[in-house]
Amino acid sequence: MDDERFITSTRSLEDEDVENTLRPTSMDDYVGQDKVKNSLNIYIQAAKKRGEALDHVLLYGPPGLGKTTLSHIIANELGSSLKITSGPAIEKVADLASILTNLNKNDVLFIDEIHRLSRSVEEVLYPAMEDYALDFILGKGPSARTMRLKLQPFTLIGATTKAGMLTGPLRDRFGVVCRLELYSKEELSSIISRSAKILGIKIDDAACDELALRSRGTPRIANRFLKRVRDYAEIKGTGVITLQLCKDALEMLEVDELGLDYIDRKLLLTIIDKFNGGPVGLDTLSAATGEESNTIEDVYEPYLLQLGFVARTPRGRIALPNAYKHLNKPISGNRQKYIDMFVAKDEE
Ligand SMILES: Nc1ncnc2c1ncn2[C@@H]1O[C@H](COP(=O)(O)OP(=O)(O)O)[C@@H](O)[C@H]1O
Ligand SMILES: [Mg+2]
Repeated sequence: MDDERFITSTRSLEDEDVENTLRPTSMDDYVGQDKVKNSLNIYIQAAKKRGEALDHVLLYGPPGLGKTTLSHIIANELGSSLKITSGPAIEKVADLASILTNLNKNDVLFIDEIHRLSRSVEEVLYPAMEDYALDFILGKGPSARTMRLKLQPFTLIGATTKAGMLTGPLRDRFGVVCRLELYSKEELSSIISRSAKILGIKIDDAACDELALRSRGTPRIANRFLKRVRDYAEIKGTGVITLQLCKDALEMLEVDELGLDYIDRKLLLTIIDKFNGGPVGLDTLSAATGEESNTIEDVYEPYLLQLGFVARTPRGRIALPNAYKHLNKPISGNRQKYIDMFVAKDEE
């Protein structure tokens, strides 16, 4: 069943291949995220005009929203070269030192999953970000002294699923902090039709909209659906992907009209049935469903929150009336009162 999961935090090998062909390479082709694009455009132009490195940029948001894509675009627009690495890949201080000393003037260094850097590596990053310098300690004990090595000016782009996972000192060293939002149906629809063109897939507008509606605000999922529906169309022997064909294909994949899969449903039903609607803590929910709490928080919850199906309270997650309605579950008067009370409190 795992192979059939669409809603994952990681990319599959297949994704990697196709993603590279589908990745937009300029700001103009990058759909949506207007606020982020507008401010980045200004900073990029300004940095280019001054001939300086762009300020360090932190990109955060759920998986599949375009963080890696955007970092390629930033480097392209700057006319700089991009070095790509990730938090877990930089094991030792020496690894980072060698990456940093090999950067050329105004290069862009992309560190994916930057929240997973080890503490000692992170500390080396501070002076590198602030002063473009590496500090070494030579010798031990009383005779130890520090030596400073100058680096070329560079731009660090860090990506993470949650800004809250970064330490304060690291977060403070980013001059530009961008939060990526889930995409609207219209934006996803235009991403799907662009992808279809690139992949030579014939799909009508209604079908694009339908896939968009079910892609939970996430371009990566939209592109995955497009590929699956194409496979389905090939087996059924139809040339053009139609609305009905999309519906049939997604039904086979157990993805419902809103894009929820069986894990979303399991999470909601667990809150509603096992915990009487909540509140239930993240760890308890994780134990009861067998899903990792990180995955629940980063991958499933953002969309359920956006749909207004769950809410976070200080005491844990609760299911909201929309979720009961969607799952055809009755909601008791007492429960409704409890939720109203909570919502009223929240708005104060
Ligand atoms: N704004 C966008 N416009 C068009 N396609 C996008 C956009 N953002 C992401 N994508 C598509 O979604 C895929 C996943 O994006 P990616 O940058 O790898 O996400 P992240 O790094 O945030 O997990 C990309 O290959 C790209 O095809
Ligand atoms: Mg990425």
